[in-house]
Amino acid sequence: MQADELAKRKAIIDACLEMNRSGLNQGTSGNISVRHGEGLLITPTAMAYGSLEPEDIVYLAMDGTATGRHKPSSEWRFHRDILAARPETNAVVHAHPLACTTLAILNRPIPAVHYMIAAAGGPTVRVAPYAIYGSEELSQHAVAALEGRFACLLEHHGMIAIGPTLARTMWIAEEVETLAKQYLGCLQLGEVRLLSDEQIAAVVEKFAGYGLRA
Ligand code: 13P
Repeated sequence: MQADELAKRKAIIDACLEMNRSGLNQGTSGNISVRHGEGLLITPTAMAYGSLEPEDIVYLAMDGTATGRHKPSSEWRFHRDILAARPETNAVVHAHPLACTTLAILNRPIPAVHYMIAAAGGPTVRVAPYAIYGSEELSQHAVAALEGRFACLLEHHGMIAIGPTLARTMWIAEEVETLAKQYLGCLQLGEVRLLSDEQIAAVVEKFAGYGLRA
């Protein structure tokens, strides 16, 4: 295995462990992929993150053919389809974070309650309509909800974040979960005041040059 591929596999495992440690996810309900060569590297289905070794990560070609000692995540379709639809994207993180999932159950998109929504690419984080996990239909809904955005919610399911690197995608996922917590808190006190589309557009522009430091 080339050093570059090994590094990506290790980074996927580290991100899985981190998302459970931080509370972004629980159990094996999330999955992560990173673009590699003509395809992608993706977590195996239903394997405890604590036992993952680099060889457990599955390579998936864009036609859906898997290479590895396990089956790919049951959500491989949306990982593959998002990477195909978004050439600027190199990582996809899916999790079931509590606040995001609560809003997704209520079918409530996250509005511009805080300027950090610009991390998700625009003034809203949309909700993709419900479809059974792993399905072609769910994948189509997710790709549509992500148009012009780096994150979306999945109705009665969870959240997806995407980005140019895995580190940035994890950052986006954490920020969107924080926004969801803030929005849920505001809803409890009544009417929520929002920033305008212009105010968010100005932050999106500023974020384009905001690099995550190692
Ligand atoms: P996998 O374990 O197959 O990745 O799927 C878990 C899940 O919750 C899908 O949304």
